[in-house]
Amino acid sequence: MNILSPSILSADFWNLSENIGKVEQGGVPWLHIDVMDGVFVPSISYGMPVIKCIDRRTDLFLDVHLMIDRPERYVKEFAECGADLINFHLESTQKAEEIIQAVRALGKKVGITIKPGTPVSAAEPFLEQVDMVLVMTVEPGFAGQKLIPECLEKVRRLRSFVRSRGLDLDIEVDGGIYLDNVEQALEAGANVIVAGSSIFRNDVSGNISKFMELMN
Ligand code: DX5
Ligand code: ZN
Repeated sequence: MNILSPSILSADFWNLSENIGKVEQGGVPWLHIDVMDGVFVPSISYGMPVIKCIDRRTDLFLDVHLMIDRPERYVKEFAECGADLINFHLESTQKAEEIIQAVRALGKKVGITIKPGTPVSAAEPFLEQVDMVLVMTVEPGFAGQKLIPECLEKVRRLRSFVRSRGLDLDIEVDGGIYLDNVEQALEAGANVIVAGSSIFRNDVSGNISKFMELMN
């Protein structure tokens, strides 16, 4: 199943509830929430209190993308504040195995994320234990960047590897996805699409319906 996961990083925070309402009304099932700590990535975004407020008011599936150093320190906190899926970067920790088990024990879905420079082979040892691999299609840290085409080749390789193993795994892409390249990402084998700027800039409802049309 193809899933759209709009990233609120590009939303107008003054009108966050209105923006999330448009996501719900558009029939979108997921919401992508980027947590940045200013250490693993240069920028700082938002964390638990914001996720908690969103979780209280919406039934959207909360797809939390942790861009933080040593995420093992915060697994419990993110699970408790309402994350439904916790994605962490393999580059941010030495304790991937431990994190995967901790997230599972808390009853949440777990994803591993790789930056553009990290090969697919880094994710291979974990594929049987996770629900998702998030393949970054830009360097993590900022919205509004241009997709790096080589990253879609990684998606292609990962999808064929996953298929050859008979695994049922979501592959998510994040960064630089627009209406004019979303079909390329799906064709490469991604089935969860993060879109920030291309959803929350200008006409949010109009953008959502155009994406939904292309994705179904
Ligand atoms: C970037 C974040 C993305 C970001 C995507 O590090 O992980 O989720 O919001 O923004 P766009 O879609 O504008 O590239
Ligand atoms: Zn993200």
